[in-house]
Amino acid sequence: MLHFYSTKHKDEVDEIIDQFVLGAKIAHDAGADGVDIKLCHGYLGTQILRPYNDRNWKYGGPWENRRRFAYEIYERIAKEISDPNFLIGSKITMWEGIPGGQGCAGPDTSCMDLSEPLDLIRGLEERGADFILVSAGNPNLTVALAHPDKRVPDYAYLHHTFQREVKKVVSPKVAVIGSAYSVFRDGKNGFQGVEEGKNNLLYWGDKNIRDGVVDLVAIGRQSFADPLLPVKLKAGKTQEIKWCTLCDNCMELLVRQKNTGCATHDREYASILTEARQKEGKIKFKYA
Ligand SMILES: Cc1cc2nc3c(=O)[nH]c(=O)nc-3n(C[C@H](O)[C@H](O)[C@H](O)COP(=O)(O)O)c2cc1C
Ligand code: SF4
Repeated sequence: MLHFYSTKHKDEVDEIIDQFVLGAKIAHDAGADGVDIKLCHGYLGTQILRPYNDRNWKYGGPWENRRRFAYEIYERIAKEISDPNFLIGSKITMWEGIPGGQGCAGPDTSCMDLSEPLDLIRGLEERGADFILVSAGNPNLTVALAHPDKRVPDYAYLHHTFQREVKKVVSPKVAVIGSAYSVFRDGKNGFQGVEEGKNNLLYWGDKNIRDGVVDLVAIGRQSFADPLLPVKLKAGKTQEIKWCTLCDNCMELLVRQKNTGCATHDREYASILTEARQKEGKIKFKYA
């Protein structure tokens, strides 16, 4: 976990905020539609927001201090990029699943308490957020929560609850985007106690949008596995969709610091992985 001990680090965080703003300006000038200010998955935003950051300093201790980092970035971007068409939003971990993690009730408890993430989201809307991408977990520590997989597929249901809770606190102007749908696949997924045909990616995406749980569904690993999924769906060619097998080969590429893509369905990434395994040998990583 990240600790901040000296005033020097305070200055560093201010510099990092400057860099976020500069990054957004570069993206805007390059013609991007918008930016996603990451407040998820154990990155710096999470490390500052989480209750574990309990030393009382400008960006730590009481909630008003911990949320300042995110709010300052939004306020600065709004001030320095006065383009109403430039989108700003964040991917947010609602519950990190580690003691003191984001969405926990305190610095030394794992008990879930969504009041801080939900308050954060309300404040982001006040500062101009156009979208919130709802996530959970931390891929380094609670990987099955961030990317529900074959071992603990049921975590995907938890994401639905988080999505619904976010939807309740924002106005219709903010698009609420759900994630962690890839694990549902075409129904061959290891979930228990479900009716056939009622537990696949297309079913849950459609249902959650219709039920008002989310406005949009983001597709992660499944987009690596078959970027043409939307085209095939539109053309009624669902039989041709290549489904993500949840094999974690893409995660292995990431852990090996290679270009990342589907090393199962895409030959280019498969050969990058084969070559890396031959050169570097087996690596021990907890996703395998
Ligand atoms: C190999 C790999 C790389 C990822 N890289 C990013 C990333 O750079 N930024 C991000 O927000 N999420 C990243 N994710 C997380 C996904 O965007 C997504 O939140 C997660 O995989 C759950 O969605 P899914 O079930 O559709 O895969 C990555 C996931 C994987 C497997
Ligand atoms: S490498 Fe495996 S887990 Fe990753 S996208 Fe491809 S099939 Fe899915």
